[in-house]
Amino acid sequence: MGASGSGKTSMRSIIFSNNPASLTARLGATIDVEQNHVRFLGDLILNLWDCGGQDAFMDSYLTSQRATIFQHVGVLIYVFDVESREMAKDLDYYRDCLEGLRQFSPEAAIFLLVHKMDLIRGDDLKESTLEAKRKELQETSGDLAIEVLGTSIYDESLYKAWSNIVHTLIPNANILSTHLSKFAQACSATEVILFERTTFLVIATSSPEPQSEEQTSKLSNKRYERTSELIKAFKHSCSRVRGEFHSLEMELAEFTAVLDEMTKNTYVLIVVHDPSIETAAIKLNIRMARRKFE
Ligand code: GTP
Repeated sequence: MGASGSGKTSMRSIIFSNNPASLTARLGATIDVEQNHVRFLGDLILNLWDCGGQDAFMDSYLTSQRATIFQHVGVLIYVFDVESREMAKDLDYYRDCLEGLRQFSPEAAIFLLVHKMDLIRGDDLKESTLEAKRKELQETSGDLAIEVLGTSIYDESLYKAWSNIVHTLIPNANILSTHLSKFAQACSATEVILFERTTFLVIATSSPEPQSEEQTSKLSNKRYERTSELIKAFKHSCSRVRGEFHSLEMELAEFTAVLDEMTKNTYVLIVVHDPSIETAAIKLNIRMARRKFE
């Protein structure tokens, strides 16, 4: 949810429909609610509702459609345009939505995206703006647990936010992580990351091995969302030349990386820093692990 023009459909079209950011300017206003279904792992289906933000629709969600909109909500994602000129009105609607959630889905997680952060110039100003918004949103939300994230369709922040959101919806995410850690060990890998196939959002990662802490500290803390963003862009380029993306191998002096299909709905990325390990061995391990992860 969020005001008209705050960027909800743009996010959805980039993450769930594989469109590039440059095409979002052509999107029209969303009329009422548009629904998306994304199959994650096995039977886990993400049911996403994009609620058009024009006042007439918002008023209808909060009155006649109230029970339909707010029942069985797993996560409320409220998008605020960082440069909104009507923040007081945005907050009034947000407060009303919280009330709807309290009434129908009190257990729902709440993610607040301060969006279009690319419009703020300079890292310091970005940080202070986000901090001020976070304070304002926490005050409006009272003692509810909220997570406030800065996002933009022009960088990897969008993937970080959405991976976070999706992660809260995945049951057994910890078990998956344990399996990935075992798999990483078996491959002598520094890290193993599991991505959802169409969105390329991170589903789970292996936890780093204690002995590889030195290597781990060298890894960028934006590596997951950067990978999602890069692979999505690469997949888009493949589709423009009518190619299909299947897998990727990289052998560099410092590390080897293999990205390959794990199950019907997931891809796995394995990063190895040991130069004696062949990519063919990594690929064989992936093939042998498939059944376990299916
Ligand atoms: P309604 O459907 O009316 O509720 O609006 P919406 O929230 O779905 O907005 P929409 O996604 O249609 O985006 C409106 C405009 O914002 C488009 O022109 C997008 O290109 C632009 N936009 C979306 N995200 C960003 C962003 O991160 N940064 C910038 N600068 N512009 C963005």
